Amino acid sequence: MRKLTMILTLIAVLIAFQTSVFSQNKYVGRKVCSMCHSTEKAGKQADIWQKSKHSQAYITLTTDKAMEIAKAKGIANPAEAKECLECHTLGKTVDASQFDSKFDIKDGVQCETCHGAGSGYKTMPVMKDKAKAIAAGLTEFKDAGAIEQWCRTCHNEKSPTFKDFVFSERWEKIKHPIPKSE
Ligand code: HEC
Ligand code: HEC
Ligand code: HEC
Ligand code: HEC
Repeated sequence: MRKLTMILTLIAVLIAFQTSVFSQNKYVGRKVCSMCHSTEKAGKQADIWQKSKHSQAYITLTTDKAMEIAKAKGIANPAEAKECLECHTLGKTVDASQFDSKFDIKDGVQCETCHGAGSGYKTMPVMKDKAKAIAAGLTEFKDAGAIEQWCRTCHNEKSPTFKDFVFSERWEKIKHPIPKSE
């Protein structure tokens, strides 16, 4: 009995420690999101994303074309350069301590790049309640204008290959709605 009390106390202390020290959400990686966002009923977001160029954004940095662009800027390896990774992976420089074990930077512009670090909102009860999910770290997009503004944080003239960005056309190519139930 005393042993049990001790263990319970230890657990309580550990939980308190964790919430105080590691309160920042972690990036869990798109494989975790895919567990629930792959079915027809859910809207196959994982599949739509996989087929989009966003899933290839990191791989692109390992191509000859990327090497050429980087070389002209005096960058030795684009796949390791902050100047390229900031748009081809998470959209901003994130400390590796924020990556969970399943998170893979090679997945390029992935779910959490746009939706925010998922460790806090990825559970079923939280996901099913939009307000709760937002409170737990899911990014809120108020309207189409806010979405477009977000896209333009990467789709802009700072991109070495930028031509133009017509939001409505590009959104058509990557949108991944939850099917409306009758
Ligand atoms: C345990 C299953 C599960 C996991 C894991 C999961 N989701 Fe969800 N998600 C759901 C369910 C269920 C809904 C609600 C669907 C509905 O409203 O019909 C949802 C809704 C959403 C929504 C829409 C929220 C809204 O109401 O506008 C987004 C965005 C989302 N998930 C992103 C993610 C991302 C990104 C990840 C990975 C970090 C993830 N989900 C992981 C089950 C999950
Ligand atoms: C400001 C964000 C941003 C930065 C910084 C950035 N990219 Fe990109 N990159 C993009 C976007 C967005 C695209 C998609 C093309 C488009 O529609 O503009 C892209 C596309 C590419 C492509 C594919 C182009 C094609 O036509 O096939 C290559 C290669 C590339 N980037 C290399 C790089 C390299 C190398 C760096 C670092 C020197 C870099 N990018 C930095 C945003 C960025
Ligand atoms: C974190 C930076 C980032 C954000 C945010 C971002 N993108 Fe991209 N996007 C890229 C990069 C990088 C590529 C190029 C990937 C490649 O070719 O390897 C790209 C490519 C694309 C492509 C494929 C190129 C084409 O036109 O066929 C589309 C479509 C696209 N993005 C739409 C969007 C939309 C819509 C949004 C906003 C909802 C958005 N992107 C937000 C970085 C970003
Ligand atoms: C380039 C940015 C971007 C990427 C990458 C991305 N999403 Fe989204 N997602 C959005 C935006 C923007 C919306 C629209 C939000 C809205 O309408 O409020 C959205 C909507 C959703 C919704 C809700 C759809 C609805 O009908 O309400 C779900 C679920 C979702 N995303 C899951 C995912 C999952 C899972 C992944 C990875 C496999 C992913 N997203 C990748 C930007 C992105």
